[in-house]
Amino acid sequence: MDYKDILFEVESNIATITLNRPKALNALSSEMISEIGDAVSRCESDDEIRVVILTGAGDKAFAAGADISGFKNKSPREIIPFIEEGHNAFRRLELLGKATIAAINGYALGGGEEIAMCCDIRFCSDRAVFGQPEVLLGLIPGWGGTQRLARLVGMGRAKELIMSGENIKAQRAFEIGLVNRVFPAETLMEETRKFAGKLAGMPPFAIKMAKYAINHGYDMALDNARNLEIQCFSQCFSTSDLEEGLNAFQEKRKPQFTGK
Ligand code: CAA
Repeated sequence: MDYKDILFEVESNIATITLNRPKALNALSSEMISEIGDAVSRCESDDEIRVVILTGAGDKAFAAGADISGFKNKSPREIIPFIEEGHNAFRRLELLGKATIAAINGYALGGGEEIAMCCDIRFCSDRAVFGQPEVLLGLIPGWGGTQRLARLVGMGRAKELIMSGENIKAQRAFEIGLVNRVFPAETLMEETRKFAGKLAGMPPFAIKMAKYAINHGYDMALDNARNLEIQCFSQCFSTSDLEEGLNAFQEKRKPQFTGK
């Protein structure tokens, strides 16, 4: 598939997906969502890719939300396919069996914040702005914001942000746990790539199992989630990377993981 609304690059085991409609502040169009879904599938099936970075083109926005230019005069029934398409692509990104990092370089509003919340880790620039402004349009978040924001920052803060439609700056987003780290705008991508490189050097199956246990265990009752963790932990014993990790520890050297 040729991409029009995203860029897709792979270098040193790291794939970078760039939302690429800077004139529209990278608003998520139907085409862009379908291209994101395709890129996520490529990341899943390519063993060379160990980590995925999601970012936005230009210096103003990560993504300013769903593309609302086609929203006018739509009926409830007519809007559902667009919203479902986004939900499905976002969920696939969330469940991708590899580490994902959102590098948020500006506005992350509405659907922009929602897709960032589907990444495992969020780094942002000190100029980033976050918010779920849908209520100001007469809407509510439609790509998981009502659920993932509450899980990430707590129900009280999620309701405050969603009901007021207020934007928050990078430092506040860090304080409430919406982002993991804040960097000066000039170093955001360099720091993100450095961290991605670190994760790319980890044993991929262990990363996959850790992510699976966290993602799927989170909404389970604790005893079911504990059982899931036992399964995921024990599966790591089928890998050569575990043997290498244990040998390297004994021999007091750095492990050389092969991904097997
Ligand atoms: N959809 C479509 N186009 C958008 C857009 C969006 N969400 N956000 C920005 N744009 C376009 C603008 O229409 C404008 O295009 P033109 O130059 O052709 O007029 C261009 O991007 C630049 O935007 P502005 O001129 O508005 O830039 P600004 O610096 O004055 O303001 C902003 C920046 C505060 C982010 C403002 O653009 C804004 O408020 N955008 C909309 C944010 C929003 O409401 N997001 C939620 C969308 S609904 C959603 O996401 C639902 C869901 O959960 C599924």
